Amino acid sequence: MGKIRILDEDTVRKIAAGEVVERPASVVKELVENSIDASATKISVSVLSGGKKEIVVVDNGIGMDSEDAILAFERHATSKIRSARDLFGITTLGFRGEALASIGAVSKIDLTTRCEGCDVGVRVRVEAGKIVSSERVGCPVGTSIRVRDLFFNTPARRKYMKSDRTEFAHVASVLMERALAYPKINISLVHNGRVVFSAPPADDKVNIGYVLGMDVAKNMIEVSYINDVEITGFIAPPQFSRKSADWSFFIVNGRPIKNSSLLNALIEAYGGMIEKGRYPVAVLRINVAPESVDVNVHPTKIYVRFADERSVCRAISNAVREALSNADLRAKGEYIIKHLSVPQITGKDVGGEVRVEHETRPVMIEQKMLVEDKKVLDGAGMLSGAIYLGQLWNTYILLQAGDEFVLIDQHAAHERVRYESLKEAYRRGYIAQQLIEPIIITLRPNEFAILLEYSDKLKELGISIEEFGKNTVKVSAVPTIVGRVCGKDEIRAIIEDIIRIGKVDVETFADEVLKIAACHTAIRAGEKLDTARVAALVEEMNNTKNRFTCPHGRPAIIVFKKSELERMFRRRK
Ligand SMILES: Nc1ncnc2c1ncn2[C@@H]1O[C@H](COP(=O)(O)OP(=O)(O)OP(=O)(O)O)[C@@H](O)[C@H]1O
Ligand SMILES: [Mg+2]
Repeated sequence: MGKIRILDEDTVRKIAAGEVVERPASVVKELVENSIDASATKISVSVLSGGKKEIVVVDNGIGMDSEDAILAFERHATSKIRSARDLFGITTLGFRGEALASIGAVSKIDLTTRCEGCDVGVRVRVEAGKIVSSERVGCPVGTSIRVRDLFFNTPARRKYMKSDRTEFAHVASVLMERALAYPKINISLVHNGRVVFSAPPADDKVNIGYVLGMDVAKNMIEVSYINDVEITGFIAPPQFSRKSADWSFFIVNGRPIKNSSLLNALIEAYGGMIEKGRYPVAVLRINVAPESVDVNVHPTKIYVRFADERSVCRAISNAVREALSNADLRAKGEYIIKHLSVPQITGKDVGGEVRVEHETRPVMIEQKMLVEDKKVLDGAGMLSGAIYLGQLWNTYILLQAGDEFVLIDQHAAHERVRYESLKEAYRRGYIAQQLIEPIIITLRPNEFAILLEYSDKLKELGISIEEFGKNTVKVSAVPTIVGRVCGKDEIRAIIEDIIRIGKVDVETFADEVLKIAACHTAIRAGEKLDTARVAALVEEMNNTKNRFTCPHGRPAIIVFKKSELERMFRRRK
């Protein structure tokens, strides 16, 4: 007898469901998209325990009659397309006729709905893919769906779900994306009985404010590029860039999607203005003819295939470049980081001491102090006999060291110094400093969930964070080294950066937090330094490992050999 068997219906259903429903956020995505397709103007989402226990989505859309309300749970049952031909011109978010069947296969559903023109509504109960009951009920026009006990009959999937907070963060992300794509729909989210997010109908920019925060929204630059491909939306100036790509939103014909080529085109358009490894904040709508984009690529419908992806990428690049060049970035006090072409990075650890023999500016008193103050000069190893020439644009320290011209990026160098000492302190067990006045920070819902998720790990790093009301946290302690040099606003900025680390393992997380703390406590570019400070920094560098780069890998020291300069000026061949 052969080995091949046809799988039973229950197994087939579960396999199919697995493709669509990965976690509570997938359920929320599918239900909200159904509400949008049903022309709802108000969609209220409410979840319990990150959506693991219960998800309720209520809309005021067109609703269903009693026949459709039952048919909706059949696999491949849809009102949105009729034949394969329709697949090449999809204008709705759904089209596979699989979402409700998939969700129903792995949960317990109550659906209550009434359509315009129906006297009475219907309530359908579904459990593990089977219709358990259906009855007539009185209810408003629209649809309300309650999904309970997700994956109750698929233990492997149930175990795979993460903590309530992590799952909730995903739910909030899904909702934020839809809220950005549909500013005219009133979308709200409640978690465990508390309103965490609400985006009433608004124009595009205000809507971005509701979702991403007004501080970002008010600085955003409009993009409007009307060509064969239409790109509209808003981008943030370079200094708002984030460590994660989660803040770059692409909406193709109303559908929020993920696409690495579009993301690369967006990053490239910023040119050297954004540091490597960081991502712009952007909400870009890409409108193309429905026939020129295939949405039937993946069961989750979050990827699409363009007939001509290169022209879409080109349009994004042009649109963003145009918007950036029209915006007067400098007038708003922004800085543009241009990538230096670095001839070579070298450095020598020769032992000896730093001597300040010459100063371009009249700082005689300081100089005298320096020479007398042995403490500053002792123990210096590198750059023996170096002459301090001064500071360039209050950003680079210029030294002449024998036959070498040395440029030190004061921020990069000090960042490395701070990072190494924070790392050492962490290794030995942090001494946290209680803040006299705790700092209260209000966050966006998904950030709030993420930060609380990290709170235990942060405690190990000397940062104490507690929940303090709706989307608000209280920071009561920070590592001593941070508390000593950072004010309230800087500590707030550190916390905001920590949220943006994204999904990483414990060690990487610790390391990233140390880098963030190092960056915020380091001397800044543009800061004027006195000679004593320069000498102290050089000495600190002498006692620091890996001093030739900052913790992010940017060069901290660049050395030009005299012979190189001579070659540049064609003094020698
Ligand atoms: N909130 C709703 N309001 C009105 N009709 C709905 C709603 N949700 C689902 N329906 C109806 O039920 C059908 C099945 O929904 P389901 O989500 O399973 O499939 P779909 O949206 O057509 O395709 P996809 O699987 O891609 O989401 C829909 O085509 C729609 O007619
Ligand atoms: Mg659907």
